[in-house]
Amino acid sequence: MYLTKAEERTLDGEYGWANQIAMRILVKLGDLFGATKLIPVQSAHLSGVSYKHLGDAAIEFLGELASNGGKAKTHSTLNPASFDPKYLVNRFSKERFNRQQRILELYKQMQIQPVLTCTPYYIQEPKSGEHLSWAESSAVIYANSVLKAWTNREGSPSALASALIGKTPNYGVHQPENRMPSVLVKIETKFRTEADFGALGIHLGRLLKDRIPAFQGLHGSETELKQLGAAMASSGMTALFHLTAQKNKEKLETITVEASDIREATASLFTTDKTPNLVFVGCPHCSMNEIAKIASLLKSKKVRKDVELWICTSKHVREKTKRQVEVIERSGGHVLCDTCVLVTWIGDLGFERLVTNSAKTAFYAPTLNEVDATLKPLKHCIETACQQ
Ligand code: F3S
Repeated sequence: MYLTKAEERTLDGEYGWANQIAMRILVKLGDLFGATKLIPVQSAHLSGVSYKHLGDAAIEFLGELASNGGKAKTHSTLNPASFDPKYLVNRFSKERFNRQQRILELYKQMQIQPVLTCTPYYIQEPKSGEHLSWAESSAVIYANSVLKAWTNREGSPSALASALIGKTPNYGVHQPENRMPSVLVKIETKFRTEADFGALGIHLGRLLKDRIPAFQGLHGSETELKQLGAAMASSGMTALFHLTAQKNKEKLETITVEASDIREATASLFTTDKTPNLVFVGCPHCSMNEIAKIASLLKSKKVRKDVELWICTSKHVREKTKRQVEVIERSGGHVLCDTCVLVTWIGDLGFERLVTNSAKTAFYAPTLNEVDATLKPLKHCIETACQQ
């Protein structure tokens, strides 16, 4: 891969150990995927934040980077952590809390902003055509497909390296020829809820792996497309979908999605029919519209005593929806910021069964959290939380 003089000096360690390590990661990645050069990125979004997933060895590595000159060179933000600032703080050990805080302090030293959300695009929306280096798969597919920005599906180390260098290797979906669809997906059924879009995502992710689909006959709101993308990027590796096939669609391999595919995918995300003890909404983190919808569904209702209702979002969205948050909390729901059920220890809190409107959570929770899960639309989730 071609490097400028300054990039070569960084690789030789002239600008400190942290920059050298970051440059080594990017060069290795670029060489592996045949990139010819590095290109600047407008932002980096990092996963690898929750102490539950990172563990102690990673804290040491972050400490070395922070104390050896690691500083973000582009707008850089963080995915959710293991705690919210209020509700979960006293429910786990002080030790865990301190470790999580240490991780956040180290990122802060590196000037990486603790937005602690997987929907950073609700805080600062990337522009169409901007190159990014993002690591959260649900945010990557949303940025590429809905916002038309350009980002590969980065891992934690490569997004961190991009944050410190301000660049990424020019390969994958940073190149126009790699953004073309290779399969046409004809939709021959109606979708009634966001949970149906999630089930479609799980079905397609399994089928397509990392291939890029173009849809025919699919119409969805941004919230529904968020659920579709998050799910597709969970059961598969897809980083991009197109809502329409523009040209040469007759040359593409075609697959058809029917009602039975959605029923089967939904059934595969159902591991219990027992009453849940956790109802979870907010994967990916809720938008202002979703918070407003939840508040309207909860108005004059009360959450049952034997169930917890968690709504996860960012501080930014919570701050902008104070009135609706009050309605949710008056009903007995909890609006958590900075975290979600997959990155905290819900098993340790005694939760065994959850209901969610997120196909991504229903897909991962049985393995990552060892809890049973059921996928249901938002309206049904709220009814389940409130039925007496
Ligand atoms: Fe976000 Fe957690 Fe889902 S990080 S995408 S709410 S698994």
